[in-house]
Amino acid sequence: MLKNPAIEVIPTGQACGANIHGIDLSQPLDDPTFEKILAAFAKYGILVFHEQNMLPQQQIEFSKRFGEIDIYVLSEYTLDRYPEILLISNVQKNGKNIGLADAGTTWHTDTSYLKRPPLATFLYAKEVPIKDGVVLGDTIFSSAAAAYDKLNEAMKIKIEGLTAIHSYHGKHTARANLGRSNRIKPSQEENRALQPVEHPVVRRHPISGRKAIYVAAGECVSIPGLETEDALALIEELAAQITKEEFHYHHHWQEGDFVIWDNCQLQHLAVRDYELPLRRIMHRTQVKGPIPI
Ligand code: SIN
Repeated sequence: MLKNPAIEVIPTGQACGANIHGIDLSQPLDDPTFEKILAAFAKYGILVFHEQNMLPQQQIEFSKRFGEIDIYVLSEYTLDRYPEILLISNVQKNGKNIGLADAGTTWHTDTSYLKRPPLATFLYAKEVPIKDGVVLGDTIFSSAAAAYDKLNEAMKIKIEGLTAIHSYHGKHTARANLGRSNRIKPSQEENRALQPVEHPVVRRHPISGRKAIYVAAGECVSIPGLETEDALALIEELAAQITKEEFHYHHHWQEGDFVIWDNCQLQHLAVRDYELPLRRIMHRTQVKGPIPI
């Protein structure tokens, strides 16, 4: 057990995120250290730990400190013997993707089509694509909380109390239309867990209480009480607000990076600027959050 390691929290200098130094996440942490990490997570939204060396079970144990593990719905893409870990990868075996190759290819907050979407996602870089000495496959994050703060008062009043319908199929149809999705279709049983859900358009952070916009273009298919055309126009407008560059943190991966992000206050986009034979292998865990309010 690591007792009171001297951890340093260094803000990225961008709109969100912090680097955390001085900690080996493969070791169990004492409670005061975990509390520091949790406070930094709620404050900065993204925590980056470099040069980590974690076994799947160690990643699972650390993730569990944040809450109950949320197992990804498509079992085809989870790691052998570790259903808690989703494999994100463009690598193929016998002509089939070994993991999700299309994860994150449009702006989104993770699995918001669930009733209890995840509080946190944990992504561990096992292999990163490198071309001519440059690492490809960055992830860009954007603060939906900062985006909410910068809305004008009329828009804040307009969206207060509205809800939106989030749909797994909406999201993946939109991705497929952009040529960015090639995943298998969910089985009948998996589809039962993928019914559209209704969440507030503005949600409050479960730890800090800070408000953030909670809609994603494609995934949000309607707003109860609004005509479809008006609803989709509003969703597009809010999505454009969230993804403005002024709210970004751009993560340039290195092998061994372990990044945690807060789905209640952020959205992200995985940049697909690499192809095989350049390989990218990431291990993802996520933990359940509360029902958004
Ligand atoms: C994701 O959206 O979970 C994937 C992010 C990434 O692979 O960079």
